Amino acid sequence: MNVPIPGQAAPASPPIPHLTLATGAPIPVLGFGTYKIAPTDAYDAVSRALDAGYRHIDTAQMYGNEAEVGAALEASGIAREELFVTTKVDNSNHEPERAARSIAHSLERLRTDYVDLLLVHWPLPTLYGGNVALPWPALEESYAAGQARAIGLSNYERIHVEAVRAVARIAPHVLQVEAHPFFPNGALRRYAHELGMVFEAWSPLARGRVTTDPTLLKVAEELGVGPAQVALRWALDRGHVVFPKTLNPTRMASNIDVFSFALTCDQRKRIDALDSGESGRTGSHPATMDRL
Ligand SMILES: NC(=O)c1ccc[n+]([C@@H]2O[C@H](COP(=O)([O-])OP(=O)(O)OC[C@H]3O[C@@H](n4cnc5c(N)ncnc54)[C@H](OP(=O)(O)O)[C@@H]3O)[C@@H](O)[C@H]2O)c1
Repeated sequence: MNVPIPGQAAPASPPIPHLTLATGAPIPVLGFGTYKIAPTDAYDAVSRALDAGYRHIDTAQMYGNEAEVGAALEASGIAREELFVTTKVDNSNHEPERAARSIAHSLERLRTDYVDLLLVHWPLPTLYGGNVALPWPALEESYAAGQARAIGLSNYERIHVEAVRAVARIAPHVLQVEAHPFFPNGALRRYAHELGMVFEAWSPLARGRVTTDPTLLKVAEELGVGPAQVALRWALDRGHVVFPKTLNPTRMASNIDVFSFALTCDQRKRIDALDSGESGRTGSHPATMDRL
């Protein structure tokens, strides 16, 4: 949302609920994802998302769009403390010195003194001598220096989280992994919640697949909403933090409009039954992902 013009009402945007991180800071439960948003599209996409009421933006060094995301955040005129910005240390930057340099560069590109959340993007257990905790001290230093207000892990399986926790001075605050109706990743969610980590679900729309699923379409019809809204509401009910991605302004508006309806217990159970285990996964498996 831009700075309100005197005499004009600010656009109505629904307040987005928050969870509380182990740091005590709030994290909006719904944000805007920027994976595969090309640099040429990212400024407009993020500007539109902010206009639509999103305040939580998820990016990554790997996405190549931090500079455009940063420019849109700055141009919005929204106070920094109203925004929640996440970035992720790239696979090529796990060596401690590279990690530290890359974090400084991310902050420059994002035009900010700090990110609200800094994640290691992938554990890469087949690289870096199998040391999935290699970049963690650099994240801890960023946290101590105030460059990151919270730190966490992305795509880490339980065994990888345990390896980090075994050497950590600061336990990770967040776990971001793939999760949606076809691959709910329930055991990992329960593990994260037991540890007091916020659980973030990437690809909450299964990269669009939720919009053609007969069960989700039926529940959507029953509620008079869209299937993407149903999938997002289901995720929020499970305690997931979500950040759907779209370049389409109408979808941007509907994806954030998920707080004015509720799923019944029966509807939730029918969606739970879509769990296809490993075959429901849309992205790389963390045990074998090795792209630098
Ligand atoms: N940590 C990681 O390794 C990791 C991996 C993947 C994703 N993520 C994060 O999670 C975010 C979300 O995941 P994602 O981008 O992979 O996938 P997603 O949000 O599950 O799905 C995005 C796809 O759904 C379509 N879509 C969005 N809203 C829709 C609606 N209301 N109706 C119909 N189609 C709709 C979009 O197409 P249009 O653009 O054409 O609308 C796009 O093709 C990413 O952007 C990124 O920030 C993190």
